[in-house]
Amino acid sequence: MTAIDPRAFRDTVGHYAAGITIIASVHCDEPVGFTCQSFYSVSLDPPLVSFSVKHDSTSYPRIRETGRFAVNVLARPQQELSSQFSRSGADKWAGVRWSRTPKRNPAIDDCLVWLDCTIEDEHPAGDHLIVIGRVEGAGPPERGGGEPLLYFRGGYR
Ligand SMILES: Cc1cc2nc3c(=O)[nH]c(=O)nc-3n(C[C@H](O)[C@H](O)[C@H](O)COP(=O)(O)O)c2cc1C
Repeated sequence: MTAIDPRAFRDTVGHYAAGITIIASVHCDEPVGFTCQSFYSVSLDPPLVSFSVKHDSTSYPRIRETGRFAVNVLARPQQELSSQFSRSGADKWAGVRWSRTPKRNPAIDDCLVWLDCTIEDEHPAGDHLIVIGRVEGAGPPERGGGEPLLYFRGGYR
């Protein structure tokens, strides 16, 4: 079996276009979150979703401690937010408008939709951790409008 070169692997899977989310929680009264493309829905009944997070994420250990998170699905004009939340150590929440979901997670203003989740399970996988979340709620109530922010071949679409 021929092992694929990491760069070639990255370039190849980059042809799979996906939306972009910010996975967020509130830890010790401080909002915490990171940009995440690996989100997907897993099961309808029970309602489960998943994402993969790098082992060296500094945000995820804090999210894990809270046991819950919101998935914020970004809209087309929110490219700057995606970049801001991908910089480890930066003040990711500077200038960001958000409110609390019913489960007290951060709902970022003007995102397409958000999902309120509790952490159901975790599975180590290579240099990432696969996190399974149980969906407890969704919003905003008037969802349905707006275009998505997409990521394809290393660029925003
Ligand atoms: C478009 C895009 C998609 C990303 N998707 C993921 C992802 O699915 N999983 C992940 O762990 N990191 C992903 N990242 C990188 C994280 O956002 C980044 O490593 C994280 O914000 C680091 O901050 P932290 O140390 O606060 O966790 C993505 C970055 C970008 C720009």
